[in-house]
Amino acid sequence: MSVSRFSVSLEAELLKALDLYVKENNFPNRSQAIRQLIERNLVEKKWQCNHTVAGAITLLYDHHKRELACKLSDIQHEFLNEILAVQHFHLSHHICLEIIAVKGQAKNLTLLADKLISLKGIRHGKLIMTQSDDLLFSTCQREISP
Ligand code: NI
Repeated sequence: MSVSRFSVSLEAELLKALDLYVKENNFPNRSQAIRQLIERNLVEKKWQCNHTVAGAITLLYDHHKRELACKLSDIQHEFLNEILAVQHFHLSHHICLEIIAVKGQAKNLTLLADKLISLKGIRHGKLIMTQSDDLLFSTCQREISP
């Protein structure tokens, strides 16, 4: 993709904050940090507009809670169209890490993640969303068909 240059005017305090953000997140330069901030903002907008997005749900749980594994499976079977793949890692004798790759309408992914993460016995759960296409500048009025 070709790159365009433009200059940005910022107040000294804001520039200081940007440089701190660059340093804290190990960005190679300001451009990379600004790029990431813009993309994150666009993904959030797509999320709010209920566009098709992709993401991952990570779950940490104790597999000895038998009913939990069963419930996790039941819920996942309700979302066949959203789930792309599931990876299961046995972290210790008790603890399992599951990473579920998902793609679909933002509201469905949020619903799926909420159902899984709220189950009793889940130690930690998180949904991460990203864009699923190159249509960075699509708006709420221009819905993307899946
Ligand atoms: Ni396991």
